[in-house]
Order: sequence, then structure tokens, then C-alpha cells
Amino acid sequence: MKSPNKALFLYFCGMAQEQDKFKQVISHAKEYGYIFSSSEIYDGLSAVYDYGQNGVELKNNIKAYWWKSMVQLHEEIVGLDAAILMHPNTWKASGHVDAFNDPMIDNRDSKKRYRADVLVEDYVEKLEQKAQKEIAKAKKRFGDQFDEQEFVTTHPRVVKYRRQSKEILSRLAKSLTDEDLADVKALIEELEIACPVSGSRDWTNVKQFNLMFGTKLGASAESASDLYLRPETAQGIFVNFSNVQKTGRMKVPFGIAQIGKAFRNEIVARQFIFRQREFEQMEMQYFVRPGEELKWFEHWKEVRTKWHKSLGLGEENYRFHDHEKMAHYANAATDIEFNFPFGFKELEGIHSRTDFDLKAHENLSGKKLQFYDPELGENYVPYVIETSIGLDRMFLAVFSSALQEETLEDGSSRTVLKIPSVLAPVKAAIFPLLKKDGLPEIAQSILKDLQWDFNVIYDEKDAVGRRYRRQDAAGTPFCITVDHDTKEDQCVTIRHRDTMEQKRVPITEVKAIIQKDIDFRTWLDF
Ligand code: GAP
Repeated sequence: MKSPNKALFLYFCGMAQEQDKFKQVISHAKEYGYIFSSSEIYDGLSAVYDYGQNGVELKNNIKAYWWKSMVQLHEEIVGLDAAILMHPNTWKASGHVDAFNDPMIDNRDSKKRYRADVLVEDYVEKLEQKAQKEIAKAKKRFGDQFDEQEFVTTHPRVVKYRRQSKEILSRLAKSLTDEDLADVKALIEELEIACPVSGSRDWTNVKQFNLMFGTKLGASAESASDLYLRPETAQGIFVNFSNVQKTGRMKVPFGIAQIGKAFRNEIVARQFIFRQREFEQMEMQYFVRPGEELKWFEHWKEVRTKWHKSLGLGEENYRFHDHEKMAHYANAATDIEFNFPFGFKELEGIHSRTDFDLKAHENLSGKKLQFYDPELGENYVPYVIETSIGLDRMFLAVFSSALQEETLEDGSSRTVLKIPSVLAPVKAAIFPLLKKDGLPEIAQSILKDLQWDFNVIYDEKDAVGRRYRRQDAAGTPFCITVDHDTKEDQCVTIRHRDTMEQKRVPITEVKAIIQKDIDFRTWLDF
């Protein structure tokens, strides 16, 4: 067998490294009490996860960071906590009953179910990988002389792969828009796509599959009525528009924000907490005058970008993906994508939803959902800009970018979880140098005092060096060590996770040092 050339080898190493990194993220999240599979003792439940002792703290801190910035630092935005169960008409009006579907297809031999569009997209991805192989080969051959732009527009095989990809994707988009599911199946057959499990091409017809989870309200089967678990939190905001506007005496432009669970019966559930069946959203609907929505859309794109950048996860890890094909109710839409361990994917959506939702609820409920604008002297149904971010995806963005392997000056290495200190689950670990001579008592008294202000822990097991490493890997920004001198000078050693710098400071200053480092103002005041 011919050995692969170096460029190709490095290309595939890059892909393997991505997979390794992702595996490392998943196992680290479990080992340090961040994320477990749901009901793991029964072998888990597909695409459902539980957040452990550190995970729940990180989640709560992300929520608090979002809430502070979106609600408490905006006089014109207020919060809401609507119920998960809503009147079933909500989902008729919003369009979810008729149109919240994914096209699915079954393989008769493996009995496995797939998203038909994902099968086609995976095929296109393989064509792109072939094109990348050609590019890598040519790069290797031509070295510094290589002109990639010229190569990709003239090399016959690359041109062919890219042309095929374009044709396939535009046919798929057209069939889906026209709801021509027979053509989606025809496309799968023409491309000779086989089931990844059985290798067979014996496919059923493509059918639409509604992603909402149904449930029943009521005691007896006959009288029970059908309900859905909400697939997004946004509708709870729309149906409460008038309640909040009137009782809060809100004037357009104003916003309503909410954090809560959403449920989707995803057909393809993979990539850990990225795509789950039960997840949390942090959404804000901003109500504006008709005609002013595109100005506000740009405004919220900018504000949300700043929020992300404030956490310092790396500017190169974000990009916008503007939608060319929009949902029928939207007149502008963009995704903020993040560079997850498996590549750039949607983290947050910003949509200009026009007056679609409020009007649809007005029509079905017969209740007015309007605002009397005193400056214009008229009533109107406001237009809406929505910002919608998945809490679990934000968790994954923070966690995966924070996990790092570092080589230290002495040649040793350490695993460190550089979670921004404002979000870190535990802010400080307090150690007595030894488990004797009254040092544990002093460390405990510092712990008891700091507990009122921060989430802190006490650790006296193992040598101090090992305790430092343990806290580095768990993401704790500060370690505070009590030693024999503390009894004399009332000072402790404070060590920072990222710099590993150690400083001797009076016990009375510890609180202020931590406070300054994790203060919302330090992070959010841009
Ligand atoms: N209200 C608008 C809405 O729900 P979406 O793009 O379907 O729009 C918004 O979802 C955000 O919710 C996404 O950007 C993503 O972060 C998160 N999200 C959507 N589906 C998810 C899933 N199955 N698992 C985890 N997060 C999800």
C-alpha cells in the first residue's frame, strides 16, 4: 500500500485531533462532575443529559450572566417565567403543529431512522472532503508556489465535486420548500446513498415527522386533552405580551426575556449536549415600531456579539451566518456560530420575526395584542426582534474552549479548565498546608466567612501540588493556602489558576481580591 503523503496525513490528523478533543471534553465533563448521561444506571437515555455538582453551578452562572446583561442592565427589558405546558391553540397559531417538521426516512434492513436532508448533506460533506484531499495534495506538490484560488477554480475534479455539491443542495432546498418529499427520496436513490449501519439502499418513502412531544392533560383517557411540551420558550412571551405591557406600563421599544426548558423529539440526536431532546433556551423578544425592525435587528446583532466577546473565549471562534432563505415570517435572520470541537455550528439565532406571532395569536384567540403609541397617536401590532441562545450550547462553548493541556516550564504538563472566573462553578478552594497544628481550623474559618459571598470548597487531602492540579482541572480560579506563618502574620498564599502566580496577602484582603476578579461590572461594562 502506498503511504499517504505528509499533507494528506496532516489533514486527516487534524480531523482525528478534533475527534480526540471532543472525546476529551465529554470524558472530562463526566470526571469532574459537570455532565452525566441521564439515568445512566439504566444505560442512559439518548440525547438527554444531567448536570452534576459543578455543571449546575456553571449553568446557573451562565444564566445569571445573561440575565444581568439582558434584563437587569436594561430598564426597558423585563423577565418572565411562563409555564412549559400551554394551551394547544398556541402551537396552532405559531405554526408548530403544521410546520415544525423534519423529513425522515427509514432503512428497511437496519430499521434505523434518519433525517433525509442530513443523509444528503452528509453525502455532500464527503464530496467536499474529496475536494479538500485534492487541495492538500496540490499544496504539498507546489509548496509556496501554490495558488489555492486558481487551483479550486480550474482543477477538473475539484470543480466537478463543488459543482455537484451545489446542484445537490439546491435541488434539496427546492424539494423541501415545495414539500416534494418524493423528490427527496428520488435524490437519495440517485446518489445511491446507503444506510451507514446495514449498507443497504432499501429505503421507505420520506415522511414529515413533527418534532413536538405530545402529552395528555386530565385524569381519564376519554376526557384528557392533547398538549405539547413547548418546543421553544418564545411563545410564552408572545401570549403574555399584553399582560406584561399593561402591568409593567411598558412603552415600545421594550423587551421580555425568559430562560426555560424546551423539548424537541430530534431525529438525529448527536454531538453530546449540542443537540438534545430536552434543553434550555435563553430568549428575548424585543417589540418595536413597524418599519424600525431592521435598525433594531442590527442593534441586537451588535449587542449580542459584545456579550459573547466579553467572556474572552477567543474572537476567532465566532462568526455570523446570515440566512439567505428565511422562514416565511422573518425578514432578516442570522446565526452566531461558535467553533465547537466538531467545527463552526449555530450557538445563537437573531431573527427579525415581523408581526407574525402576535398577529397569529390575535387571529386565533380573538384578543387584541396591540400597543397604543402615544407619539404616533395610533394602535399597532409591534414587530419583533428575537435573540435566542441555547443555554446548553453556551455551556459547551465555554467548557470546550476552556479545556486545555499546557506544557509547563519544567517540561511537565497540566490539564487546566480556564473557565472565565465570572462563570466558574467554584470560585476558590481553601487548603490547610497540613492536617494538623491548628491549620485546618484557620482554613475552615476562612471558608465559613467566604461562603456568604461565593461558592467555595475546603480540601485537605494530598500534597498541596496535587490539590492545585485537581482544582486547575476542575476550573477553580483561586486556591488559598493556610500555612504555619499564617498563625503569626495573618496572611495566606493565594494562587491564580491561569497564571499559577502565588502571592502572600492578608486574610482580610482575600474577599476583595476574589470579588474584583468575578465582578459582573469588570466583565460586562463595555
Ligand atoms: N425561538 C426561536 C428558536 O427556538 P431555534 O434556532 O430553533 O430558534 C434557538 O433555537 C437556539 O436554541 C439555537 O440557536 C440553539 O442554541 C438552541 N437549540 C435549538 N435546538 C436545540 C437542541 N435540540 N439542543 C440544544 N440546543 C438547541
